[in-house]
Amino acid sequence: MKWLIISDLDGTLLGDDAALSRFAAWYESQHDHVLLAYSSGRSFTSVTASIHATQLPDPVAVIGNVGTQICRYPGGLPVPGWPKVGSLGWSAERVRASLADMPGLQLQPEEFQSPHKVSYFLHNAGDVLQEVQRRLQHAQLAADIVYSSQRDLDVLPQGANKGSAARYLAHALRVPDERVIVCGDTGNDIAMFRVGFRGIIVGNALPELKALADGHAYLAHRHHAHGVLEGMLHWMT
Ligand code: GLC
Repeated sequence: MKWLIISDLDGTLLGDDAALSRFAAWYESQHDHVLLAYSSGRSFTSVTASIHATQLPDPVAVIGNVGTQICRYPGGLPVPGWPKVGSLGWSAERVRASLADMPGLQLQPEEFQSPHKVSYFLHNAGDVLQEVQRRLQHAQLAADIVYSSQRDLDVLPQGANKGSAARYLAHALRVPDERVIVCGDTGNDIAMFRVGFRGIIVGNALPELKALADGHAYLAHRHHAHGVLEGMLHWMT
């Protein structure tokens, strides 16, 4: 029975080139036992560019856009049936319209927007998150919000996040929950740690994710890909 590793990229596997080389060599030696997938706030196209530009090993699939996209790698074929978005209740245009004039919110550049993800910069969350929720509800939008790194606010179709996408991918690949290991460093990874998988929180993670460390989520001492490897030893031996 193979393991499935689903890892975040920026700040988790990426951030220390020497550590990534070590991870790549380890993965090469484990290839027969391990399936590898990436999960990022970035799109499939952007993740693919990082795979080409770094030592990141080729994964079997990429979960992109904060869980709202799942594609096989390298072909980019979407995994059928994802995201599950009802015909009513979600509209990226209506999300934008209902939050258009909100102080503090700044729309991220167009390359970071997609039909299933509307993303803003927000530096001082304060009461803003509550007001965002209130407006989305008032507009009867079936949307969830994810706030990470005290900077990024993602508005996503209700129920679509890195956690639900990870579960969908694991089922599609027929890997049972107890064989799935998720790795991350910031708030948009939290949902992956709430599914019931084993988790690795890298040592450089932000407090928003470190707070989740428990019997299912191993908090590594080491940073970036070194921390991922430390966690692999913890779970796989
Ligand atoms: C990535 C995405 C950005 C998103 C952030 C947090 O940086 O490019 O759009 O807001 O992840 O999920």
